[in-house]
Amino acid sequence: MLAQLDTIQTEALAAIAGITDEAALEEVRIAFLGKKGSLTAAAAGMRDVPAEQKKDVGQKLNEVREAITSALEATAAGLIAKKDAAAFANLDPTLPARPLPKGGLHPLSLVLDEAVKVLRRMGFALAEGPEIETEWHCFDALNTPADHPARNESDTFYFENGKLLRTHTSSVQIRTMEKETTPVRIIAPGSAFRRDEIDATHLSAFHQLEGLYVDRRVTLADLKGTLEYFFREIFGSKTEVRFRPHFFPFTEPSFEVDLKLQAAGRAAKWIEIAGCGMVDPAVFAEVGRKRGDAAYDPEKVTGFAFGMGLDRLAMILYGIPDLRLLIENDVRFLTQFR
Ligand code: DAH
Repeated sequence: MLAQLDTIQTEALAAIAGITDEAALEEVRIAFLGKKGSLTAAAAGMRDVPAEQKKDVGQKLNEVREAITSALEATAAGLIAKKDAAAFANLDPTLPARPLPKGGLHPLSLVLDEAVKVLRRMGFALAEGPEIETEWHCFDALNTPADHPARNESDTFYFENGKLLRTHTSSVQIRTMEKETTPVRIIAPGSAFRRDEIDATHLSAFHQLEGLYVDRRVTLADLKGTLEYFFREIFGSKTEVRFRPHFFPFTEPSFEVDLKLQAAGRAAKWIEIAGCGMVDPAVFAEVGRKRGDAAYDPEKVTGFAFGMGLDRLAMILYGIPDLRLLIENDVRFLTQFR
């Protein structure tokens, strides 16, 4: 029995030495260690071994199994190493990695960042207010009478409790003056909502940037200087800016601001870009009534305000022909602004 086991070991190790691939390895393993393998068969013979030899034979059996198993494992490891080496042979690990797809900022974020940067340089601080507003903040305090068309059910999203989705960011003027005393110099970018039919130039949710400066002796010259500087920073130092008399309930006098812009290959054209004006004393009076103090005494303070559409600004700046592109999240569109 001991001699038989020696023979099996010698045969097995010789067979393993000749192995060159995984299939052969598996064949050899089965031939010796498999259910019908020669070592397994020899082990079955243990029951016929006389009791006094069982210990020696059993030990030998374990040694032989051990020797065959470790030879098989070593050969398997060698085969894997060879395969790895072959796979790496055509690979240059020093090549740069393939670039991962990169995200970018939405064109609206880009315009907003740019606008805020310029205005902060002029001393404007960021302010905010709620998108769900009271009628008082959105209209009454802004000197907008109850019969004004902007307050119409068909133009404004009203809630059953009487609140509404703010139709402009001008409500932040009131929110700020309620909390803070002069001087106030703020910008408030944010969403505004109107029940507009959606088309190439209208969205029912859009973005505005509001500005307010209140102090003693703020003049129309300050307003013109501020907006001219702002638009020239955004559109270039030669940009012509025009203030055209207009009407807004909360400013007097009021203006619409036009820029003379020239799209590539077209004649220059005046394009309306913002509304602005000197804060109407009636607005200060209403804020003062609510505050219960004289911080905004219309006899003592003056101010200017302005508001512009950020979506429109992005359209003009980037030549975007249709506002709906801004909300469709089409990657082919968005990747053009990286
Ligand atoms: N709130 C106006 C709108 O949505 C824009 C505007 C006009 C804002 C004149 C102002 C302003 O602050 O002074 O159409």
